[in-house]
Amino acid sequence: MNKPIVIQGAMQVEIASLVAQLDEVVVETAGGWTFWSGLLGGVPVVISRTGMGMSNAAAATALAIERYAPAAVINQGTAGGHDPALQPNDLVLGTRVIHLGAFQSPFRDAGAGSDTLAWRPLDLMDQSESAEFTMPVPMSFDADPALLALAREVGYRAGRVVDGVIGSSDVWNNELDRIAHFHARYGTLVEEMEAASVALVCGQYGLPFLGVRVVSNNIVNGAAHDVSTANACQAFVTALLSRYQSPV
Ligand code: 5AD
Repeated sequence: MNKPIVIQGAMQVEIASLVAQLDEVVVETAGGWTFWSGLLGGVPVVISRTGMGMSNAAAATALAIERYAPAAVINQGTAGGHDPALQPNDLVLGTRVIHLGAFQSPFRDAGAGSDTLAWRPLDLMDQSESAEFTMPVPMSFDADPALLALAREVGYRAGRVVDGVIGSSDVWNNELDRIAHFHARYGTLVEEMEAASVALVCGQYGLPFLGVRVVSNNIVNGAAHDVSTANACQAFVTALLSRYQSPV
């Protein structure tokens, strides 16, 4: 049997239409995480509902890798726009995903308030001897080149498909200055709450990773939240898989 590809979504609505298409389904749970193994258009897959947020996503990823020995992991689902040009249903192929949740604040005295724009990115991967070590840019994880190339060939009618940086943290940002800061300094096109955590875990296992996110809301241009955009993202991933050759 060829190795499966793991396809993740945080919420039920972000995986339901993928699960509905599966043949020969086997459902398994581990803790609070559910995995649906089966064939999607003949390709072996494991659909994983990760739950929301970085910790849920990391745990679901490690569990999936240990239990199913996949060939690759695709993290997909909804996201909020950081770029005013992005409309609901537009899709971002994550050339890179970056961690927007790990920072060290410069010292400020009592009563001096908080300035999150001055916070410096922090490396959680322990690449420095110094606990004080900060980086000019956040931790960044590149997409697998082959998966990204495959994704770029997929047709998509619901909106535009653009390459770009996906930013992840446990924060849903609605402060326009903070969003503009991330967009200008780190090039984020969208934000969400799982992809960088998944990419970090995939990196620890040396596994190919791709993040694909549909714009479901955009506070920068006032586009209201439309969670049904999750269906367009799942349709895109289904089309991507139909082009995918599973490694043995
Ligand atoms: N900011 C953060 N997360 C978002 N999500 C959708 N839009 C946003 C946004 N603007 C996704 C996250 C998480 C859930 C809250 O929806 O990935 O799973």
